[in-house]
This record gives sequence, C-alpha cells and structure tokens, in this order.
Amino acid sequence: MERIPVFAPCTGIDTLKHLTDALDVGWIGMGATTKEFEDRISAFLGLTDRQVIATNTGTSALHIALVAAGVKPGDEVITPSFNYVADHQAIRMAGAEVVMCDIRDDNLGIDCAKAEPLITKKTKAIIPLHFAGLPCDQAGVFSLAKKHKLRVIEDAMHGFGTAIGGRKLGSYGDITCFSFDPVKIVTSIDGGCVIVASDQEFSNLQRLRLLGVD
Ligand SMILES: Cc1ncc(COP(=O)(O)O)c(C=O)c1O
Repeated sequence: MERIPVFAPCTGIDTLKHLTDALDVGWIGMGATTKEFEDRISAFLGLTDRQVIATNTGTSALHIALVAAGVKPGDEVITPSFNYVADHQAIRMAGAEVVMCDIRDDNLGIDCAKAEPLITKKTKAIIPLHFAGLPCDQAGVFSLAKKHKLRVIEDAMHGFGTAIGGRKLGSYGDITCFSFDPVKIVTSIDGGCVIVASDQEFSNLQRLRLLGVD
C-alpha cells in the first residue's frame, strides 16, 4: 500500500542559503531577519491596512491575540470542537473558558446556527478555524460577531494563501493567526504570526510577544 507522509518538507539549496545567511548575520534571536520575514508575509498577503507580528509558534500567536483583544479571566471564547488542542490551550492561557461548538459537514468549519445559542453575557470572542485551508462560513461568523459585539480571531493556521472571493485570509477581518510549524504550508520549523489592524493592538502585541520588552 502507498504510504502518504503527514509532511514531507520541500527544502533545497535556497533553504540552506537562507539558513546560513541568517547565521552569518551573527545575531541569533529576533532582529532584521524576523523583520524581513514579517515584511514578506505582508507583501505575500497584500496587506494594506494591517501589520504582522511574528511569534515563536501559532499557539502563542493565538494566545497573545486573545490577550490583545481584551480577553480576560471569566470571559468565554467559542471555537469549534473539531480543532487542534492549541486553540483550547491558548484560550485557557488567556484565563478564559473554552466553549466548544459543533461544525458543519460541508466545510468542516464552525456551524454559526449552533454557535449563536452558545453566546452568553460572558462571550468575548470567536475563534473560527479554516480546516485544512478550506474556508469556513466566514461571512456567518463576521455577522454573528457584529450582532453580538464579539471579537473574531481567525485560526488560519492551515490557510496561508487561502483566499475567499479573491481576498487572502489575513488581508481583512478582525485578527488573523497563522502557524509555520512543520505540517503547515510554509514552515520556519516553529513559528507563527498575528495580523492585526489596530495600531494600539499592534504595539500591545509587540510587547506581549517578548516578555513586555519593546
Ligand atoms: C488548527 C491549528 N491551530 C493551532 C495550531 C498551533 O500551531 P503551532 O503548532 O505553530 O503552535 C495548529 C498546529 O498544528 C493547528 O493545526
């Protein structure tokens, strides 16, 4: 029987050159290469009114996005039950409660009709997941969020390059998070990023990703 690997990275001469170039800089840590990575993400996604904050993992991207969005202990965050554990852990790290919602059969994303009855006075945000790069009912999520004044933090970990109506995930919306771990579309071995529109939240996120240092 043919074996299909979970991931088989495509690396080559170009990858090695980038690795050695990064080491040649002589600064092992966040610096000019990280900034270049953020700029390239921004260019690839075609960002015009939002900024990129690179993080060490997709999980920490979700965590700091939740904190920057004002999610705090006692709040509730709705996310699909069919999800990776990272989302549930990020919500718990922000001190909030995870409220799991069922998914739809057609796109394996959150079922907005089932999400609405889960909204309480404590609900602060929704984290929809675009599973395997397949867009979820994003319009439904945005309209639910608008109606109930909720933040939307999109888990676009599987969807780097996914576009809905010609617009790439992350180039619009509220807050979007990507992962660059080894099973994702583009990998930095471990890594992630947050895309945010508000300048205030951008500067909060910059501090949050590095122990409060700016
Ligand atoms: C849906 C989903 N969310 C979040 C994550 C977390 O990303 P990372 O492994 O970069 O922390 C993953 C990673 O597998 C994922 O598949």
